[in-house]
Amino acid sequence: MSKVLITGGLGYIGSHTVVELYENGYETVIIDNLYNSRIDVLDKLEKITKKKISFYKGDVRDKDLLRKIFSEEEISGVIHFAGLKAVGESCEIPIEYYDNNIGSTIALIEVMKEFNVKRIVFSSSATVYGKCKVVPLKEDSPLDATNPYGRTKLFIEGILKDLYESDKTWEIGILRYFNPVGAHKSGLIGERPNGTPNNLVPYIAEVAAGIRPHVRVFGNDYDTKDGTGVRDYIHVVDLAYGHVLALKKLDEAHGLLIYNLGTGTGYSVLDVIKAFEKASNIKIPYEFYDRRPGDIATSYADPTKALKEIGFKAKYGIEEMMEDHWRFQKNLYIK
Ligand code: NAD
Ligand code: UFG
Repeated sequence: MSKVLITGGLGYIGSHTVVELYENGYETVIIDNLYNSRIDVLDKLEKITKKKISFYKGDVRDKDLLRKIFSEEEISGVIHFAGLKAVGESCEIPIEYYDNNIGSTIALIEVMKEFNVKRIVFSSSATVYGKCKVVPLKEDSPLDATNPYGRTKLFIEGILKDLYESDKTWEIGILRYFNPVGAHKSGLIGERPNGTPNNLVPYIAEVAAGIRPHVRVFGNDYDTKDGTGVRDYIHVVDLAYGHVLALKKLDEAHGLLIYNLGTGTGYSVLDVIKAFEKASNIKIPYEFYDRRPGDIATSYADPTKALKEIGFKAKYGIEEMMEDHWRFQKNLYIK
């Protein structure tokens, strides 16, 4: 049976996508250099899926390793998650971000071409909408990047569009994720923050676990219902299932397809804190801080195109996102 190659498959979104793929009859091969993940995720994935999963430890920029994988495995398509993703860090070490994110994509495309595998789904981000103030964000909203990380995503989208224009036999899915949170129901896999969490929900979970004294709410003077930033949080399991739908669509529709993966609903920072308190039954102290540089007031998706064309609709609400996130993250801290 042909398999889907998952780059960065031991990471947060990749690992959940591996589970959804097996649940929908696909098999996978994973390549990951463990830069931001741990090998025990592979055991957890095998436990959840009850399958033996082929794993190659290494870097996607290593074309010889990619050739080995394409020679040894029967690969029918690729989902490309591998990359660096921290906005703040990307301003400190931009060249590493360009090298890793863009270099891995080019190496991957070159080897895919050598092996005549021309189906790729790419992890893009709502960050490509930059400071766009008109919400909900649609796939044809203006694009812009405000930091090196975002620029890597915009460049890669451009590279994939140029590739498709030059050879229309490629089948390309570009998925723009909004804010993934939550974890698999088993509590076995989830997001493992490395150092101080940048993102809101992992930070709240560390406050709930008593590791940090309070949540720093960045800004309470935005033009939003309660003054705090509004985002489109999406359960990682819903997001993962979006990849299955995108692959199925590429099977029948070919072409270059771009979809937002979000719920279409925006929640403020205070809404999220409240939902987490309810899910965990723990009081979450918070304090207001200055706005975080680069943040925008409001970002949420128009999910209509993904619903219409691939049948994507998020199933889980904010309560389940918080419950599932906490189930996984509390096990890391509270034994
Ligand atoms: P993650 O860091 O948990 O997963 C990425 C995985 O890729 C890690 O396991 C890491 O070890 C691996 N990796 C990194 N560079 C590699 C390389 N050169 N070769 C091989 N493996 C490599 O991140 P995630 O949250 O799962 O994100 C996956 C993708 O989705 C990324 O491309 C990210 O930019 C994108 N994305 C994430 C978010 C988010 O909020 N998590 C939002 C939008 C887009
Ligand atoms: N926030 C806080 N305190 C924190 C962390 C965040 O108040 O400790 C606020 C932010 O100001 C923002 C909201 O919570 O209003 C969400 O912030 P996150 O850092 O969790 O998420 P972002 O929307 O800033 O960015 C995330 C990813 C990006 C990705 C983007 C869109 O980090 O890589 O979602 O997908 F591009």
